[in-house]
Amino acid sequence: MTVKTKNQNLQKAKSSKKDEFYTQLSDIERELKHYKKHFKDKVVYCNCDDPRVSNFFHYFSYNFEKLGLKKLITTCYQNADMNLFSENNSEEAIYLEYDGDKNGNHEPDPEEIGIKQLKGDGDFRSEESIELLKQADIIVTNPPFSLFREYVAQLIDHDKKFIIIGHQNALTYKGIFSLIKENKIWLGHGFKGGAAHFITHYEDHATASDRIEGMVRVSGVTWFTNLDITKRHENLILYKTYSPEEYPTYVNFDAIEVSKTKDIPMDYEGVMGVPITFLDKYNPDQFEIIGSSRELGKPMSNFAEKGTYQQGGPSFYLDNGDGTYRRLYHRLVIRKKKD
Ligand SMILES: C[S@@+](CC[C@H](N)C(=O)[O-])C[C@H]1O[C@@H](n2cnc3c(N)ncnc32)[C@H](O)[C@@H]1O
Repeated sequence: MTVKTKNQNLQKAKSSKKDEFYTQLSDIERELKHYKKHFKDKVVYCNCDDPRVSNFFHYFSYNFEKLGLKKLITTCYQNADMNLFSENNSEEAIYLEYDGDKNGNHEPDPEEIGIKQLKGDGDFRSEESIELLKQADIIVTNPPFSLFREYVAQLIDHDKKFIIIGHQNALTYKGIFSLIKENKIWLGHGFKGGAAHFITHYEDHATASDRIEGMVRVSGVTWFTNLDITKRHENLILYKTYSPEEYPTYVNFDAIEVSKTKDIPMDYEGVMGVPITFLDKYNPDQFEIIGSSRELGKPMSNFAEKGTYQQGGPSFYLDNGDGTYRRLYHRLVIRKKKD
């Protein structure tokens, strides 16, 4: 093996290892209760889930009749043995199809679940997984974060509905942000306090007080969907009024800075920069998203002397009033829609 291949393999193993954590049933239930109406007569596909251990499979198989599902398909990746924390070193994978309870006990029994061998390794991008994807109406899972862009692109290409877990950082990826801007995907209800505890066997180095044995705490994770939910039609209640003192204009873009979503002034009709957490409250009937500081921030070299501002990628800057300029964290650029 060449050094290059060895390094590539190591890198692959590292990133797939980071992807090995599992969603709790309680988190799935808390989010999916908001989507119940969407599942009637639908084929659900969980394409990054070992059916023998996945709580997504558990949720849909035990609620199959309640949701009125037509079929549940689940595929697992490179894992033909039962160990939850296998190192994904088997090239074999299985898939499963369940079309409801037959013996009237309202539970998915082993003889009712059709476990089949996949020819390949169950990669969601493989031909056979794509064939299963085509049969499905709604895809629900927690996909590998390291392949999130590619994962979403595939769902969009195949025009599928989905409810998936991802990291908020993904909102700043170009491909994902354009989908948000075009109202093709949006955020679901999310996790309590913006952090999730996933089942894992890695050590959790987090110092947070809500550390749980056998779990890893990941902050900034959320649900992404393109299914309609009530939350998306609720207006954010605005109570503040605009003043130039409280809402300064950026040095390198013509918009005002609103550092907290709840402080969006109710009487300002122009363009505003808001933190990315705005997306949790975003109602497309109330606001439009124009872009982001990464796209719209003009080079500071056009406005100030080198050395007076912190360098970095495109961003918005505020004037400190003492000849220096403050670089702000990522901002979304929005405008209120006319009533
Ligand atoms: C974050 S874990 C979540 C597992 C499960 N969906 C859950 O929520 O409990 C992501 C899973 O995707 C699997 N995976 C990694 N690469 C994959 C690929 N290319 N195709 C399909 N699954 C993959 C990993 O083995 C891992 O189990």
